[in-house]
Amino acid sequence: MQQPTYSYYKNLFEGKDFPLAYVDLDLLDNNIESIQKRVGHKKIRIASKSIRSTYILKHILQQNPIYQGIMSFTGKEALALLEEGFDDILMGYPIVNSKEIEGFCKATKEGKQAVLMVDNIRHFELIEKEALKHDMIQPVCIDVDMSSDYPGIHFGVYRSPINTLEKFKSLVDKAQQFSHVKIVGLMGYEAQIAGVGDASPFNGIKNSVIKFLKKISILELERRRTACVKYLIKKGLKPTLVNGGGTGSIDSTKKEDFVTEITVGSGFYSPALFDYYENFKFLPAAGYAVQIVRSPQKGMFTTLGGGYVASGSVSLDKQPKPYLPEGVQLTENEGTGEVQTPFYYNGKAPLQIGDPILFRHSKAGELCERFDSLHIISQGKIIDIVPTYRGKGWTFL
Ligand SMILES: Cc1ncc(COP(=O)(O)O)c(C=O)c1O
Repeated sequence: MQQPTYSYYKNLFEGKDFPLAYVDLDLLDNNIESIQKRVGHKKIRIASKSIRSTYILKHILQQNPIYQGIMSFTGKEALALLEEGFDDILMGYPIVNSKEIEGFCKATKEGKQAVLMVDNIRHFELIEKEALKHDMIQPVCIDVDMSSDYPGIHFGVYRSPINTLEKFKSLVDKAQQFSHVKIVGLMGYEAQIAGVGDASPFNGIKNSVIKFLKKISILELERRRTACVKYLIKKGLKPTLVNGGGTGSIDSTKKEDFVTEITVGSGFYSPALFDYYENFKFLPAAGYAVQIVRSPQKGMFTTLGGGYVASGSVSLDKQPKPYLPEGVQLTENEGTGEVQTPFYYNGKAPLQIGDPILFRHSKAGELCERFDSLHIISQGKIIDIVPTYRGKGWTFL
């Protein structure tokens, strides 16, 4: 599919107030199709943190039955989504707020599929208390750490303490004392495969080290996840949910027979950090436009705003990436600023004060925390303007 040009978006945004955020539905649909083809036969759970718009969540879920369920990032978000009619929600992270846990128990009792994430006996205790109150059995999923430790390198993220089969067995065995909590499966999120680019211009020689580590780590985590699933089966727990992966690990996670579903989030908008993977490329479906307000010297322009830097460790790749027109280069000293973003320009499209400049956020869903609406673009038209989570007054994190 041909990517739209600068003039395509410039014409669409003529007369609009800036800054504005948009989702190009034609590119998004292309990504939805590519992801589904890539995954093959497993179910795909949508990581809502990488979407943060109910309009887009519904849109993806409607495209193909392979898209089923949501991985939610806070208890309040999950309850708000359930309230709006979404179903099949898996918490991606443990929650410890008793009111939120109670909300899950109530939803389960009403027949919704709402599964909590656990990795500690304390989580079971908190859930048991609320489930007991409502005389019901609450399903939970155990988060198994999928990082790999090599001499001098912790390759992965710090999430669950359950990083060996022994620890998994011990937690499962201890959990048998709770009669109102049911283990329905496990999740292993291999962040070092899914969320770390191996072709990043910011990494230099480190890319080849990352590629090598990914290769050996994949083998290790397959063994770990499989051993844990087998233990649940041995205990007669019949796991129905084995979740793995993220956008960047589809190719390896789908090869594991026991995995029932793959979580995908970032691939839909395909933000800047997802340009830096060797094995796949999705299309830049989301972005934002800011407006040129001055020109400090020949060959330079300045936009109002633009500095929506992403979370995580502080590094240059967390800056927004200039997208269109081609030829925009940020200054080293100022980057994308809180109120002003100066840039050098050597592109072909003529620019003047008042013109829009398009950027892409380096992460996916965080874009929506900066805007209350998304301009939905399709076939050369803005077909809708829909609220982001923030626009609905939903500010969860
Ligand atoms: C538990 C879990 N699974 C999957 C993902 C993958 O999401 P994405 O496809 O946006 O990388 C994430 C993102 O952080 C996550 O926390």
